[in-house]
Amino acid sequence: MRHSVKQSAPKQPDFMQIRGSLTFAGDKSISHRALMLAALTDGECVVHNPARGQDLEATRRCLAACGIESAWEGNSIRITGGTLINPTSDLYCGNSGTTVRLLLGLLAGQAITARFTGDESLSRRPMDRVIAPLAGMGAKIESAQGHLPLTLHSRQLNGITNQSPVASAQVKSALLLAGLGAASTTTVIEDLPTRDHTEKMLSALGAPIEITESQIAVQKLKGNLPTFEMIVPGDPSTAAFFAVAAAGLPGSELIIRQVSLNPRRIGLYSVLERMGASVVYQQADQILGEPMGDIKIEATPLQGVTLTAKDIPGMIDELPILAVLATQVEGVTEIFDAGELRLKESDRIAALCQNLKKLGANVEERVDGLTIAGPTLLKGNSVRSFGDHRIAMAMKIAGLFATGTVSIDDSDCINISAPEFDDLLNQVLMNST
Ligand code: S3P
Repeated sequence: MRHSVKQSAPKQPDFMQIRGSLTFAGDKSISHRALMLAALTDGECVVHNPARGQDLEATRRCLAACGIESAWEGNSIRITGGTLINPTSDLYCGNSGTTVRLLLGLLAGQAITARFTGDESLSRRPMDRVIAPLAGMGAKIESAQGHLPLTLHSRQLNGITNQSPVASAQVKSALLLAGLGAASTTTVIEDLPTRDHTEKMLSALGAPIEITESQIAVQKLKGNLPTFEMIVPGDPSTAAFFAVAAAGLPGSELIIRQVSLNPRRIGLYSVLERMGASVVYQQADQILGEPMGDIKIEATPLQGVTLTAKDIPGMIDELPILAVLATQVEGVTEIFDAGELRLKESDRIAALCQNLKKLGANVEERVDGLTIAGPTLLKGNSVRSFGDHRIAMAMKIAGLFATGTVSIDDSDCINISAPEFDDLLNQVLMNST
């Protein structure tokens, strides 16, 4: 059912502005993959500007338990690849879905025996999407009905051809990493393109991989990957919170420097353009197949937008902040085909709906998404993060569009992905002139 609520624009108070430029810590998805691929080399790799935050530490800790040592040196991680060993303690993945799903694939391919655990949120999230295809390759994985804790038993894998019913880079990557150790070819077919860091990095490192438009095939890796040194481009998903603030707060202008410009990660920025924002890209570099450069965003009057299946994978993690922006723009924003949001660190559809309603927004919850009619002048109130870093950051930005104070019950969870969030916001938040 389409929504047709018409509202007149509320009188805007003097909101703050975003002005200046920011450089972000490295992209979380690329950082996880850099550490996992370094584990398959036979020497020392250096990852500059990796993600800060608890999720990447979970991957580092789990790899260390499997014999892959690493250490921070300033703003870099030095990591020594070699032979993965069976861990003698549980692999605690904390809150990180990428850690458990990708590592399950990587370790399955290396015939490792390991037990995976996680926090309460991760233990609620579905793992059958990776368990089933890995089992199809011959892996033996015991689980609590498709949930953590999982026990992986050492087995030699065979290849598989898999077309996942969910558009998921985590599922794709788990299978490709497993395929590096499988006896025959592993082929992943994608209906909708998801983030392609795993295949790009493997290809850049000379692994036996073939990439076409909707299909990736990987062969068993003979020996090790070559050692590498890389700079991780800034995280476009963390930057998205700032981009939205800049796009929506009149008078704002923000330059996001050295951020990933991977076309499969910048869906939010394209949607901002569709809404009428001024977004200018300047590509500067390419590192292990990953384009990076600057994005400049200027505030302009914005319109609502309709998002459907093809839009979702390219901005899956940015939908919470897009929903906040939708409350501020003229017209109706409809987010369809985003049921995956219910399976993230929290049920993000329910969390957004509950919080935005508390702030006075005109929001309707659907099974597969949200309908938001704007613009609404938000009013301060208490909201919940549900322990979800992206909900907490989205609510911090909602506070910039509100009169009064938006108080968040628990924003420590921001440390899961972006401990630098408040410092960065303080650098660019100004009184309007
Ligand atoms: C990620 C893929 C996405 C995303 C997650 C990180 C990755 O999950 O939501 O934050 O690094 O591959 P899905 O691929 O499961 O949608």
